[in-house]
Amino acid sequence: MQTQTGNTGFWVTLLGYYLIICRVLVQAADNMEGNTTVLEKPIRHSLSLCPGEQQYVNRRKEVVLKGLNSLQINCTADTVPHITLLASGGGQRSAVSLVGFLYQLEKEALLDTLLYIGGVSGSTWSMAYLYSDPQWSSNMDEAVSLLSGPGVELEQAVAWLTEKSKDEHFSLTDIWGLLTSAGIMKQMDPRNLSEEASRNVTNPYPVYCAVEKHCFSHGPLEGKWFEVTPHEAGFTELNLFVETSLFGSKFQNGELMEKKPEMDMVRLQGILGCALAHEDVIREMIPLWFNVPIDDAAKEYLHVYNVLRNVITLTSSTIKDPTALSELDRLQKTLHDMVNHNESVLLQSLGPEERKNLFQQWRYGLVGAVETWGQSLDDGDFKTSVAFLTKQVLPLILKWEWGTTSNFLYQFQDASVPDCLQSKEQFHLIDAGLLINVAYPAFLGDKRDIDLMIAPEFSAGTMFETLTLARDYAAQVKKPFPQIDNKVLEESDWPRDCYVFEGKEKEPTIIYMPLFNRQNCKDAEEFKAKMKEFSTFQRPFSQEKIDFLLDTAKTNMKNNREILLREMNKAALRRMNKMMG
Ligand SMILES: *[C@@H]1O[C@H](CO)[C@@H](O)[C@H](O)[C@H]1NC(C)=O
Ligand SMILES: *[C@@H]1O[C@H](CO)[C@@H](O)[C@H](O)[C@H]1NC(C)=O
Ligand SMILES: *[C@@H]1O[C@H](CO)[C@@H](O)[C@H](O)[C@H]1NC(C)=O
Ligand SMILES: *[C@@H]1O[C@H](CO)[C@@H](O)[C@H](O)[C@H]1NC(C)=O
Ligand SMILES: *[C@@H]1O[C@H](CO)[C@@H](O)[C@H](O)[C@H]1NC(C)=O
Repeated sequence: MQTQTGNTGFWVTLLGYYLIICRVLVQAADNMEGNTTVLEKPIRHSLSLCPGEQQYVNRRKEVVLKGLNSLQINCTADTVPHITLLASGGGQRSAVSLVGFLYQLEKEALLDTLLYIGGVSGSTWSMAYLYSDPQWSSNMDEAVSLLSGPGVELEQAVAWLTEKSKDEHFSLTDIWGLLTSAGIMKQMDPRNLSEEASRNVTNPYPVYCAVEKHCFSHGPLEGKWFEVTPHEAGFTELNLFVETSLFGSKFQNGELMEKKPEMDMVRLQGILGCALAHEDVIREMIPLWFNVPIDDAAKEYLHVYNVLRNVITLTSSTIKDPTALSELDRLQKTLHDMVNHNESVLLQSLGPEERKNLFQQWRYGLVGAVETWGQSLDDGDFKTSVAFLTKQVLPLILKWEWGTTSNFLYQFQDASVPDCLQSKEQFHLIDAGLLINVAYPAFLGDKRDIDLMIAPEFSAGTMFETLTLARDYAAQVKKPFPQIDNKVLEESDWPRDCYVFEGKEKEPTIIYMPLFNRQNCKDAEEFKAKMKEFSTFQRPFSQEKIDFLLDTAKTNMKNNREILLREMNKAALRRMNKMMG
């Protein structure tokens, strides 16, 4: 998945002007501070942290200070280094591995050194899971054991859906959030994120990331990266934010028009971790026999198949009954056979319009097969749940309705807001992994002023790609990023378990730690095989696979404890120099 950014020079120039304007605005805002008129504006335009995050970070630093001192790292209240963990996406592989990595950080007494955790895609699933416990940082044993627990029952999931389906914005996003939450994280916690704003500082501060789809496809880089914290939601590079409790409410020209209830974590999880909602992800699943161009009609057909396949897979993880499970397998196989039946001769004999009709017919055929299957089930709870699911979910799949959110920048009269945002009443947030599969953008630059980024890499695809994409992104938005030696990139077929990219002056240092590596794979072949065995799109992992991933992530962390300590020490020294310089 590539970044698409044309006209770079133009945007960089524009950004330059824009930053100057912002500084003026920030100063203006600062001058007015303490005056109530400032507080009435619901959209915050500023390069600094919002007061809520600032207070959290200040208090969290006391925890970090104690943590570092107990590791014999010398620093004072004024010189606490800013250390963040940035976990990559990667479906269930990353969701589970992150839990393992954090577990071991706790065991090594390193968890308290983290000021922040930033996540995208699969890692946001485990963040949403962990933060449902306000004290998770001191409860990692439980977090790990719940992952191996009994999980959510289909009936419970269906009850949640019944409630949600009454909502006017009910969409595939809810289904996706539900299934990843119940099926993969084995939990369903309907809290909302802004409730966490009042928590104490036991945990690192969470930053969840997404990208905005309209701007992702045709807009400037500044309109893409989106971040959500317990306090605020907004565009990282535009420096425009609203309070998280207003995220989803209706705005026009910067004024709050209508307050809406805040979305819960289940829906948020659906928004943050659904690469399926984007057109590009079907590339990997085009059947071999397809010998016609993949036009829109073909895409629609493959999308429907892909979503059905995933919904069925995740549904099976909420079920214990062997009969029901084998019924789901039967359905999965029926659909698989329908899509993999070689029709290349027929397709080639048709013109574009006829092909379009055929694809549409096939699309309905898949949905029809699910309905027929549902009716063929023996009467009982499973059949009832399935009937409800098919009634609610199939129409959404056919209409391809993914969740949109009211756009707080709608008609906002400010030159910095790109057209792709200003003109749309709704924006559409999608999986940030489509741009960069690690939350680097939210942590670059002066705002969070990070000294050290610990980046366990759980992504699929080419190793180091998240890093080089982030480097290029940083260059485009003119924020410091450490040098990456091109020699290192040659190790992508069989990477080491830990790389340090050392930052100079304002650049952060990055510790990059591939999940599979030279320590746990004897050669490039085994590395490739492991990546395949734990690929992103597959049925939920067996307990053995979950345990294997947990162990792998724990061991990686443990093996590199000394490197982490050394870099934390350097980060503390650097922060001290920064404060004195
Ligand atoms: C707010 O502004 C008003 C009028 O502009 C001024 O009189 C007042 O002192 C200001 N309040 C603070 C706290 O700065
Ligand atoms: C720790 O820092 C203090 C003050 O910056 C300094 O005086 C002291 O020598 C340092 N100790 C070590 C062990 O580096
Ligand atoms: C946060 O609150 C919990 C429970 O109320 C308490 O046990 C814990 O010590 C507190 N942690 C901090 C860092 O204040
Ligand atoms: C968040 O959830 C709580 C309880 O679930 C609810 O009382 C509160 O109104 C919600 N907040 C918003 C802004 O919707
Ligand atoms: C599909 O069928 C055509 C015609 O029989 C054949 O040439 C082609 O190789 C087949 N494709 C696959 C992937 O089996």
